[in-house]
This record gives sequence, structure tokens and C-alpha cells, in this order.
Amino acid sequence: MARALIIFGSTTGNTENTAERIGGILSAKGLEVTVENVSDVTLGNESDYDLVLYGCSTWGEDEIELQDDFIDYYEAMDKAALSGKKVGVFGCGDSAYTYFCGAVDAIEEKVRQIGGKLVAEGLKIDGEPDDYEAEIDAWAEQVAAA
Ligand SMILES: Cc1cc2nc3c(=O)[nH]c(=O)nc-3n(C[C@H](O)[C@H](O)[C@H](O)COP(=O)(O)O)c2cc1C
Repeated sequence: MARALIIFGSTTGNTENTAERIGGILSAKGLEVTVENVSDVTLGNESDYDLVLYGCSTWGEDEIELQDDFIDYYEAMDKAALSGKKVGVFGCGDSAYTYFCGAVDAIEEKVRQIGGKLVAEGLKIDGEPDDYEAEIDAWAEQVAAA
């Protein structure tokens, strides 16, 4: 059975709920899924999985700021075992801000730099994830099939 790791950083729970929803879809598609808060992740464990998904919300006003808990992981991400691995990135944000879901863009850029293979365009959720259930499910099905 293919194994998927979903790593999320979330302050008010929106990206966490999205991570859980995506995990549910992947499980229904037959993948063995682990959903982990980025604060609890051991860097390097990505190598045990076939698919790695990152979820991170965006904070800050004048520049892109990753969700607080994600910053340490992001800064050490050069050591993440992603080379040649299937990867997808999602996050919650608000299009009223200059850098709408800028964390998704920043993480995707980092994944490219360290040799990960992005299997879907980043999923950017504008506002409440409850309003994006169809888009979230479609994205999860896309990465599950990649
Ligand atoms: C002070 C503040 C700054 C924010 N900055 C951004 C931003 O730069 N870009 C963006 O897309 N969303 C921004 N947001 C919106 C959050 O990312 C959004 O509320 C998101 O749903 C939070 O997700 P989480 O609960 O998973 O942390 C900001 C929100 C606050 C309160």
C-alpha cells in the first residue's frame, strides 16, 4: 500500500482541518495516511513515504510569513528527504492580503530546489475551508492519482 505523509502548520485550525479532510480522501483511495503537526515531525522521515503533502497558512502583512510552527522546518528543509519524491502543497489564506497564500508559493519553490517532484498545482484556499470542500476533494483526488 502506498504511504502518504501530510505535514501541516496551522494557527486557527483552518489548514489543520484541510489536512484532515485531504487525509480522509487519500485513505478512501487506499493510501496509508499519516497526518502530522509540523511541530512533531522528524526531518528525514519523509523517506518512508511515497507522497508528501505540506499544508501551511500565510501570515504577515508586508512580506510572506509562514505559519509560526512551520518556520523551523522550512529553514531546515534542505535536509528533508524529498529528492525524486512526489510532493504537493496546500494552504489557507485570504486574498485581501498582498501575498495571497504566499507560504504555498515559498514551500513549492523550496521543494523544487531540493529535487521534489510537484504533482499538482498548489491548492490555495481563500477564507473558510468549509466553502472549498469540492476544490479540496478534487485536489486530494488528483494527488492520490499522481
Ligand atoms: C495578521 C494576519 C496576517 C495574515 N497575512 C496573510 C497573508 O499575508 N496572506 C494570506 O493569504 N493570508 C493571510 N492571513 C490570513 C490567514 O492565513 C487565514 O486566516 C488562514 O485561514 C489561517 O489558517 P490557519 O488557521 O491554518 O493558520 C493573515 C491573517 C492575519 C490575522
